[in-house]
Amino acid sequence: MNKHYYITTPIYYINDVPHIGHAYTTCAADVMARYKRICGYQVFFLTGVDEHGQKAQRTALEQGIQPQELADRMLPRFVDLWKLLSITNTGFIRTTDAAHRKVVQYLFEKIYEKGDIYLGEYEDWYCIPCEGYFTEVQLKEGNCPDCGRSVERLKEESYFFRMSRYGEPLLRYLEQHKTFVMPEVRHNEVASFVKSGLHDLSISRTTFNWGIPVPGNPVHVIYVWFDALVNYLTGAGFLSNMDRFEQFWPPDAHLIGKDILRFHAVYWPSFLMSADLPLPKHVFAHGWWTVEGRKMSKSLGNVVDPFEVANTYGVDEFRFFLFREVPFGLDGDFSRDAIVARINGDLANDYGNLVSRSANMVGKFLAGRLDLPGRSGGTDAALIERTQSLLTEYRKEMDIFGFYKALNSVFELTALVNKYIDTEAPWKLAKEDPARLSTVLYNIWNGVRICTLLLYPFMPSKTASAWKALGINRDIEKAAFDEERVFYHADDLSPIERIAPLFPRREREPTAHVSRIDGS
Ligand code: MSP
Repeated sequence: MNKHYYITTPIYYINDVPHIGHAYTTCAADVMARYKRICGYQVFFLTGVDEHGQKAQRTALEQGIQPQELADRMLPRFVDLWKLLSITNTGFIRTTDAAHRKVVQYLFEKIYEKGDIYLGEYEDWYCIPCEGYFTEVQLKEGNCPDCGRSVERLKEESYFFRMSRYGEPLLRYLEQHKTFVMPEVRHNEVASFVKSGLHDLSISRTTFNWGIPVPGNPVHVIYVWFDALVNYLTGAGFLSNMDRFEQFWPPDAHLIGKDILRFHAVYWPSFLMSADLPLPKHVFAHGWWTVEGRKMSKSLGNVVDPFEVANTYGVDEFRFFLFREVPFGLDGDFSRDAIVARINGDLANDYGNLVSRSANMVGKFLAGRLDLPGRSGGTDAALIERTQSLLTEYRKEMDIFGFYKALNSVFELTALVNKYIDTEAPWKLAKEDPARLSTVLYNIWNGVRICTLLLYPFMPSKTASAWKALGINRDIEKAAFDEERVFYHADDLSPIERIAPLFPRREREPTAHVSRIDGS
């Protein structure tokens, strides 16, 4: 196999528990990974955790433990969540891995030797209780924007990366690679940021020590974002598994949230250019979820726990909802009513019902065995042709992370097949025209099979059940898109029988809503 695809998620901070935002990016990467696999790619899918930095050190201190212990305690929350959500990552990185430390220090030295790192002095406003620097603009009425206390002018020795050298090359790169940053609006945002001028970047700290030491000067630890971004190199096997690295580098896609775009689309490519390494092909920044119309935050107590949502509504239903509800790239609103509406509408009524009624008809009218198609009718060609054009639209969208539009094509297809069933009325043909019946059921079976294939990346387990219900003995995970996209007759099917509904209908949650005090 010579088609390779390398996709990544951000590595998540371990000072907090996973929420819907973490689940969102990781599920998106999984949808893409599964899709690319059925398209014949060998996929390397990397996720992991970001363990270093001042925030982690401070959280550990508050809990009276060492930062490593905090990381070790939090790690299973992420690992368990990915297991629950059927995530098929092939790599997992912790920034405290020895292999990673080696790569980070190697890269630091390489960039240093290139003349792009120098020792200088960092000067800014410093808040002692928060242990953080702030620029003049960030201050709130001259005080710390986080705690409101007074700040002091402080100077500290720091290594700097000569980012100012990379403004021009980056702009050229952005102009020549219009889809480097996606969606387009984010590309333009990055370009105007770069145009406004890049300043050298402080990439070491001396005020805390939970990080990777600067080679040769261990009073400094390497800035957590330099450390974190390099995970994409380590994870692919840089220095430790160069065969794999050569196969997969550069990454096809870094999936991230819009808040960490600058790090990925400005800092990261500058570091790579300086180290003479090829740049990632795409950085895709998705939007943010609000909850029932409000910002998600700990203080509001409305943080969406992905374990709870997946256990309540189903893993596949949750995954599906994330990409059906909102175009990938825009902000969206999570609510229990919305997820219930999707389950009852798209899943139970449209797709689930289509699978059940089709399997039931083959069971009832053909004793569970598909016949070879007999007599064709005028409506068949239209169904087959439209299915093919919807498949093409689906594929075009999936390739550019257009999950929302891709799913629109799928639901156009379910509507099409449902309508075909209504107009062809197999229950009448069963009495009047058996030759026509076998063709109609053959077409329905193929239509449902294709819908199922297209939904597979989003709902791996429900579609595996549907695949079985259709009598197919092969694993849906190993399906080949190009073989499955055509209408075919299969004579190696298991008997097709009546099945229980794939998506039981849901009641709306009676407890989900609490009125606000102002009565709105
Ligand atoms: N450790 C860094 C990433 C380093 S990657 C080299 C980090 N970690 S994080 O744990 O804060 O990750 C947050 C991810 O979750 C980001 O991609 C962010 O956009 C995403 N989200 C955080 N809140 C979110 C929502 N409310 N909605 C959607 N995504 C959100 O940043």
